[in-house]
Amino acid sequence: MSSTSLRSHSCGELTAKHAKKSVILCGWVNTRRDHGGLIFFDLRDRYGLTQIVFHPETDKEAFRLAETVRPEWVLQVEGTVKKREKDAVNPKMPTGEIEVTVTKLTVLNKAKTPPFEIDSPKEVNEELRLQYRYLDMRTARMQRNIVLRSKIFQIIRRYFTSKDCLEIDTPCLIKGTPEGAREYIVPSRVYPGTFFVLPQSPQQLKQLCMVGGLDRYFQIARCFRDEDLRGDRQPEFLQLDFEMSFPKQEDVQEIIEGSIVEIIKECSTKKIKGGSVPKYTWKHVMDTYGSDKPDLRFDLPIVDITPLIKGCGFKVFEDALTLKNGVVRALRVPGGAALSRSEIDAWTVVVRELKAKGLAYILFKEDGPQSPLLKFFKAGFLEKLQKATGAEKGDALFFGADAYKIVCASLGRIRAEAAKRFKLIDETTHSLFWVTNFPMFEENDDGTLTFSHHPFTSPNMDEWAKRKEEPLKVHSICYDLVLDGYELGSGSIRIHDPVLQAEVFEMLGINSEDQERRFGHMLRAFEYGAPPHGGFAYGIDRVVMILAGEPNIREVTPFPKDQKAKDLLLGAPAAVPEVQLKELRIRLEDLDA
Ligand code: AMO
Ligand code: AMP
Repeated sequence: MSSTSLRSHSCGELTAKHAKKSVILCGWVNTRRDHGGLIFFDLRDRYGLTQIVFHPETDKEAFRLAETVRPEWVLQVEGTVKKREKDAVNPKMPTGEIEVTVTKLTVLNKAKTPPFEIDSPKEVNEELRLQYRYLDMRTARMQRNIVLRSKIFQIIRRYFTSKDCLEIDTPCLIKGTPEGAREYIVPSRVYPGTFFVLPQSPQQLKQLCMVGGLDRYFQIARCFRDEDLRGDRQPEFLQLDFEMSFPKQEDVQEIIEGSIVEIIKECSTKKIKGGSVPKYTWKHVMDTYGSDKPDLRFDLPIVDITPLIKGCGFKVFEDALTLKNGVVRALRVPGGAALSRSEIDAWTVVVRELKAKGLAYILFKEDGPQSPLLKFFKAGFLEKLQKATGAEKGDALFFGADAYKIVCASLGRIRAEAAKRFKLIDETTHSLFWVTNFPMFEENDDGTLTFSHHPFTSPNMDEWAKRKEEPLKVHSICYDLVLDGYELGSGSIRIHDPVLQAEVFEMLGINSEDQERRFGHMLRAFEYGAPPHGGFAYGIDRVVMILAGEPNIREVTPFPKDQKAKDLLLGAPAAVPEVQLKELRIRLEDLDA
């Protein structure tokens, strides 16, 4: 550390080679101990901890003052670096070879007793942590996470700049851009009754940069989405946003993948499984793992047993065949026979939430198979099941019998639960892979079409002829990147032809009037020589969360919202003064009504 006016060194850098040096340190009192006439503090700053010692005979005044000092006070100490006696060396601390004997103590600031201990392994209530985030930030955990986050920003900037990308900023006060979530809106004072929309992503703006001939763009972009929160979602979050001109999808993938591989190499002790980043089709991962973002640090494939069902005797299975897209699938859980009734009941609740009607199972116990279904099975069916799934003594089989989507969702979820329960995840690796060839459209419950990525995604033109008769069979040129079971990001080759764009809008039920009102600027831009282009965005918070080994992105977000989308530190959202509302010509409904 370069010396500044208040300190000569940081609290993390003094070693035996500084012995006998006069130093000035500043920092927070981490812990204090009184020891037979001596007082010890660990002084803390971002760089580490240094033990400082007060002897009554060195300086009476400093000693007396030291007796009044409490944890989290901010101190400046002048003193001499002293090598510790051999048996007092602490090999766990980088500064463990030395201590600083204090000759002068200045209290820079006092502190109230903090609402939780900073240097404690105890779990602290998250509400309290968020309310006092500035204290929480002093903890080793948060400091580590924020340092990691900053390092990842630096790698991203270095990497994308080296790929000839321009860092281009885009505004936050924009017009709605559909990414599938509800939008945050900001009223305009100048034009009462109208609103800006905060970007769900800079999707349209980055595409317009390509029309603008900027060729390659990246941005660490703040995005806003008013959606149901989960551990890997925040109302505002950061994306690494990327777009390039004249690419094939492989070009986008190569650049994006390179950045993640570099981040993992520099920030993780774990290796990428198999040393490669495979590409799987959407159909393959859905069929085999029941999810478009499976965790492949463990295998556990789902087996399609639909062809075995006819005449099997169990009505629940046979009825599934009569459904639209009805399938019956099975998941073998090695060791699953050890599951208790209450564990299976809990999993049944989980799949019911995913619209499954139940969770049929067979436990292959020591003394034979056990299941409420066996009494229904025609002779030979159980053996067929065992052959198809490889289930053996000690295993469990779980079944989904329903429409394809429901079966995928429920068995995909049981696959994840089983991996947790039986510790099947190989925690020494990262699993990183691409998912490609997504369907272009999904069906809403009312039978209308919606986009599966966003409405600017190009269809696979080789399949486009099918759009009228079988729109659900058309795939898009869209690709996701998955890391350790999380969707890191998504991207696509975009539509650059205004006629095709208008047709896709039309298929999504956006009539020409709405197209003009909502997306006229895009259609117009495409009329002025839009280059073929494509891009990608990944959630930076998710990358940091995974590499930090944290369970949710709040732990790696300096100032997150809580699980109910509230900022507990600032107390936001909050009411605004009546005059402000008046100025905006906004009248509130009676909120109690
Ligand atoms: P998409 O909507 O898939 O694509 O978002 C890309 C990635 O952003 C992250 N992400 C989030 N992270 C935290 N909290 C959230 N609420 C949240 N929502 C999304 C995820 C996700 O994979 N414009 C397109 C990209 C493109 O086509 O270039 C887009 O935003 O990691
Ligand atoms: P039931 O005949 O409804 O009592 O169901 C018998 C067993 O099959 C129970 O264990 C249910 O949880 C399970 N089950 C019922 N419907 C389904 C379904 N659609 N898919 C998978 N399992 C089911």
